[in-house]
Amino acid sequence: MGIQPPQIGPKSPEEADIKGINPFRDSVMHQCPHMYFRRMQQETPLYDVEGTDVHIVTRHELIVPIVRDIETFSNQFGSAGEPAKGDVMQTIKEIFATGWPPVPTMLTMDPPWHTRYRNTVAAYFTPRKIAELRPVIEQYVDTLLDKILANPNRTIEWVAEFAVPLPVIAIATILGVSPDNMADFKRWSDDNISTIGSSVTDERRISATKGIVEMQHYFAERLEARRNNPQGDFLSDLVNSQVDDGEGGKRTLHMPEMLSIISQLLVAGNETTTNTFAEGMLYFGQDMSVWDKVRADRSLIAPAVEEMLRLASPSGGMFRVVTKDGVEIDGCPVNKGERVMVMYSAANRDPKVWGEDPDRFDPTRPNLKEHLAFGKGIHFCIGAPLARLELQIAFEKLADRVASWEFAETNDFHYHPSFMLRGLQKLDLHLTLA
Ligand code: HEM
Repeated sequence: MGIQPPQIGPKSPEEADIKGINPFRDSVMHQCPHMYFRRMQQETPLYDVEGTDVHIVTRHELIVPIVRDIETFSNQFGSAGEPAKGDVMQTIKEIFATGWPPVPTMLTMDPPWHTRYRNTVAAYFTPRKIAELRPVIEQYVDTLLDKILANPNRTIEWVAEFAVPLPVIAIATILGVSPDNMADFKRWSDDNISTIGSSVTDERRISATKGIVEMQHYFAERLEARRNNPQGDFLSDLVNSQVDDGEGGKRTLHMPEMLSIISQLLVAGNETTTNTFAEGMLYFGQDMSVWDKVRADRSLIAPAVEEMLRLASPSGGMFRVVTKDGVEIDGCPVNKGERVMVMYSAANRDPKVWGEDPDRFDPTRPNLKEHLAFGKGIHFCIGAPLARLELQIAFEKLADRVASWEFAETNDFHYHPSFMLRGLQKLDLHLTLA
């Protein structure tokens, strides 16, 4: 017999005590933040995180105009993690001195440079270009499922056996990384996100920086090799692309710029898609009748993917920096230089948009297009077509091959300790074949 996930944390917004809560540090916010965010939505347009300059915005109607107003709210927030302490910062600088300094590019830049950087890689991520990857991704999904289903009577650890490898393989294919380096690739991705939305130990910060520099050398070597010997692939195009230099001329990208673009593509794509795969299995597994409907009517797969993106919102929130004096958000003043966190995960469960039962998994919701799981405006996720394709193919293939599943008793349903990148640490399943 399977088990069901326990109700974690407060059951209603009234029970959620938000006074003094710090989403970066308080583990209850990492495990299940929804009732806290709903309480914030009810009480205040801006929740000020005590002892920081961060104001959290949770209402859908306030987030959309903020992310559209790129003059007032800048993406130049630097790092999404808490800054390291003095001596550790010094060690980190010394490690980066053996590689390249981190510089802001797409996600962490405003126009005109945001546009220039994004344009260097955009052609690889258009829906049409990504659709060409369908046969390759189908093959990867088949291979992973063949392996998993070869022995279906055991407990399957869905995160490690499926949800982690697929996004890694997909983005590695675009970047032209050899399959032999897949394990390194995943490790570097984890190193890059280790400080996002959580507090980490000094040791982890240092080991993560070493991993990042290792990744820099891996790509720098390959970029240089393609500078004079282009191979018609992603890295060749990146190293040889010409951008406006802002002074009327053109130039190629500097190495730190290219490494920053690559690391954003790698980082933004892996953890988020992995976490959506796991959440999707969680939602269906809580009410298998929805899975039965999807299996009976495959046109429900695409909306089911949107609905799992809405509820999972694995890129839960993003910073914006206030650029001007005298700015107000719904009447609440915010000071120049302070940070606003647009909480997409909260907006995606805002009862004003999603009705009285916003936490229910319902692929037939009429307004799914309004979800903000991929953001909105100029920073709208460049990888959205890729993530959607992977998720759709995976659930199409699963619908062919798997009739149902139960959660094994070995599950603890624990999430990673981050409120910005929310995802299950593992998900043990017992599958029943179709
Ligand atoms: C389920 C999967 C994914 C989710 C939920 C997600 C979510 C997001 C969100 C919310 C943003 C906007 C950030 C902001 O408002 O400032 C974003 C931007 C971005 N995403 Fe994704 N993402 C996913 C998959 C991917 C993939 C597969 C890639 C890589 C191919 C990717 C690459 C990026 C990049 C580079 C940006 C910055 C774009 C810019 O600033 O112009 N993402 N993503």
